[in-house]
Amino acid sequence: MRVDGLFQLDDDQSHAVLSLARRATTTDGVTPLSEHVLLHVRHSSGGSVDDPLSHFLLYDGTQLAGYAHLEHGSGGEPATAEVVIDPDLRRGGAGRTLVQALLKQAPDLRLWSHGHLAAARAFAARDGFTSVRELWRMKRPLGPEVGAEPLPEPRLPEGFTARTFVEGQDEDAWLRVNARAFAQHPEQGRITRADLDQRFAEDWFDPDGFILVEDPHGRLAAFHWTKVHAHAATPGNGQPSHPPIGEVYVVGVDPDYQGHGLGTAVTLLGLRHLESLGLAEVMLYVDGDNAAAIATYTRLGFQRADVDVMYSRAASGEPAA
Ligand SMILES: CC(C)(COP(=O)(O)OP(=O)(O)OC[C@H]1O[C@@H](n2cnc3c(N)ncnc32)[C@H](O)[C@@H]1OP(=O)(O)O)[C@@H](O)C(=O)NCCC(=O)NCCS
Repeated sequence: MRVDGLFQLDDDQSHAVLSLARRATTTDGVTPLSEHVLLHVRHSSGGSVDDPLSHFLLYDGTQLAGYAHLEHGSGGEPATAEVVIDPDLRRGGAGRTLVQALLKQAPDLRLWSHGHLAAARAFAARDGFTSVRELWRMKRPLGPEVGAEPLPEPRLPEGFTARTFVEGQDEDAWLRVNARAFAQHPEQGRITRADLDQRFAEDWFDPDGFILVEDPHGRLAAFHWTKVHAHAATPGNGQPSHPPIGEVYVVGVDPDYQGHGLGTAVTLLGLRHLESLGLAEVMLYVDGDNAAAIATYTRLGFQRADVDVMYSRAASGEPAA
């Protein structure tokens, strides 16, 4: 077996990785790569020459046996990776071969596992990785047809108004508030204009589902970006395997305006929008240690449905391979 570390993928490599991810999703019942990584894979061929070394392709002869995506940490943060092995080629050392290649690049590597799979737990433990962070997926039914609790009335503070995102006008203000709201959040807070444009180019993007709340002076105070998953969580396979589901994609409140109920109000505005589209269910991701957010979402009727786990060797003191 051979590992190729690449800065960018060409179209054939990108298709092969997406196909492998789809097969793993069918086998495991959960997608092995996050949305951020899938976007990187799909848009990789148009990337810049300055891209960091982030794609690792494992070949068994000419067949793609596995893929890993390495996200280099910035500002002293550790690198993170997502790893997937072709379901037909597991338990033959492929996963370890890929992780060894990643560890050469990033000895402080952390691994994300989606869905708390037993194989991932055993695989991580085998090399001394232990769970250090959990990302919860919470769900809530929507609408009277499925007997869902009615959504409470959103209440904005006096003089605050809500409207939808206008492309070509609101990007800079949104990037500023997003960075301030998620200053402590490793992935979300660093979103750039290019990242934003990539999401706007996706089929699911709908400015009507991107709600902004402004203060009485027209300054952006909070936002709720919703998303509709029209098909299965499986990326790009075009085969609907569950009814469409809404997502609380990201809710942010500028720190200057926190503590006034804006988070709940803007969340409700987005949920009402998703309900008005006729969606029967909505989900969201939240950090397992974000007690305030989990309490807010629980009050709004959400319950934990699934969990992603981050594994690290730092906690166990294992030496790097
Ligand atoms: C987890 C995954 C990457 C493992 O890939 P793999 O090629 O099967 O792993 P390896 O053959 O290198 O296994 C190395 C060790 O991990 C452990 N392990 C891996 N899969 C296991 C399983 N299903 N049950 C028990 N132990 C397992 C074993 O100790 C194994 O060594 P052994 O076979 O000598 O006993 C693969 O199952 C996969 O792609 N899963 C879906 C994506 C995923 O969960 N990624 C997150 C990884 S943290």
